[in-house]
Amino acid sequence: MKISIIGTGYVGLVSGTCFAEMGNSVICVDVDEQKIKKLKQGIIPIFEPGLENMVLENFNKGTLIFNTDIKEALKTSEICFIAVGTPMGEDGSADLKYVLDVAKSIGKHMTHHMYVVDKSTVPVGTADKVKNTIQKELDKRSSNLTFDVISNPEFLKEGAAIEDFMKPDRVVIGADNKKAFDVMHELYEPFLHKTDRFITMDIKSAEMTKYAANAMLATKISFMNEISQICEIVGADINKVRNGIGSDSRIGYSFIYPGCGYGGSCFPKDVQALAKTAKDFGYTPKILDAVEDVNNAQKKVIATKVIKRFGEDLSGKTFAVWGLSFKPETDDMREASSITIINELTSRGAKVKAYDPKARHEAETFYLKDNQNVEYVDSKYSALTNADAMILVTEWKEFRSPDFDEMAIRLNNKIIFDGRNQYKKEKLEAIGFEYHQIGVKS
Ligand SMILES: NC(=O)c1ccc[n+]([C@@H]2O[C@H](COP(=O)([O-])OP(=O)(O)OC[C@H]3O[C@@H](n4cnc5c(N)ncnc54)[C@H](O)[C@@H]3O)[C@@H](O)[C@H]2O)c1
Repeated sequence: MKISIIGTGYVGLVSGTCFAEMGNSVICVDVDEQKIKKLKQGIIPIFEPGLENMVLENFNKGTLIFNTDIKEALKTSEICFIAVGTPMGEDGSADLKYVLDVAKSIGKHMTHHMYVVDKSTVPVGTADKVKNTIQKELDKRSSNLTFDVISNPEFLKEGAAIEDFMKPDRVVIGADNKKAFDVMHELYEPFLHKTDRFITMDIKSAEMTKYAANAMLATKISFMNEISQICEIVGADINKVRNGIGSDSRIGYSFIYPGCGYGGSCFPKDVQALAKTAKDFGYTPKILDAVEDVNNAQKKVIATKVIKRFGEDLSGKTFAVWGLSFKPETDDMREASSITIINELTSRGAKVKAYDPKARHEAETFYLKDNQNVEYVDSKYSALTNADAMILVTEWKEFRSPDFDEMAIRLNNKIIFDGRNQYKKEKLEAIGFEYHQIGVKS
């Protein structure tokens, strides 16, 4: 099939590449000229396991093309995916500016019938707005071209995006006619060998499904983080409690790890956007608001532990930070807990030596670029040299089993603050470390 993907970010690039991998002809479009120029030179703008090879292979075969010209892309496409960002607006709602810009361009430039598929995460009712925007442009040029708007929310996880897209748990399609469902089924059939979970529904329910999924996952995390706070006060151990409840098959082990808060490009904005939608319709969402509040508080827990241990004034202190990205296997730092923790410590006079296997560039260039008190280093051990404590923020695999002897030699004090509960307290205490973690009294 001939497909164009508008917006070549995490979702657009991964989806476009995977569609091309299955034999489709794909044009990925973006307004960011630098990004497209780099992609044409074989430079991949994001780190995502397995992505680079797949992009290069399909690009070299000519099945994956990069372009800044949506008009050109639409000429040959039967299906046009919208995969642009839907960032959080000032009032917490999803900003639909980019989605509606694309809809406008589609209405302006389409030359034949199109299936317009919304893959961006958008509030209920957006498909109608997309439809109206396209129709308005068609009316302006007195065109009687027809089109279908389809909702196809994306569930890929950064860090495992290729795997998730190639073998999805489910594909959700919201449409209002059989032909639209059939076209989407034909497109996705090659991906559905693992499970044939091609789930069809009306458009509004499909739009809502994405928000409900993310809100549920964020709720699990915040719930567990709240329990971790209670554990700490009453003297229970959250790690044991997690094991105890996860073994109940109705609860399960996924997404019940306590930590220093969730971040990323989706959960924070999607929970707030859903809450805003509810409020716009006159309903006050108690759980969603609490999920957000608990998460904001949780992002501060590690810095609070450091302050409790070292005092309010951290001048003259240096902390080694392991991990900057919002989760392992990605360089994405959007809403990462590391930003909150590092800025809190340095605002109190501390210096930070930071190491991340992939996110250094993002930190230096964007998210911590104004923070002059952060030094970036190229290995986890060099971060420790002359540091007063180590703070683990992102649970990259290379942090799981470090050489504790080497750490003891490099650190000024054998102190670890673990924001992801990666180590065993008894083991660390036996070798003389002071170990602070989430949900366990130190
Ligand atoms: N990142 C994820 O893990 C993930 C997962 C599922 C769903 N989503 C959703 O998918 C959407 C995209 O997310 P992302 O993380 O890929 O965003 P992103 O910021 O990585 O990429 C968006 C891209 O769209 C481009 N763009 C903006 N306006 C454009 C226009 N008019 N024409 C062409 N390109 C334009 C931007 O330049 C950017 O490259 C969001 O709604 C997000 O919530 C993201």
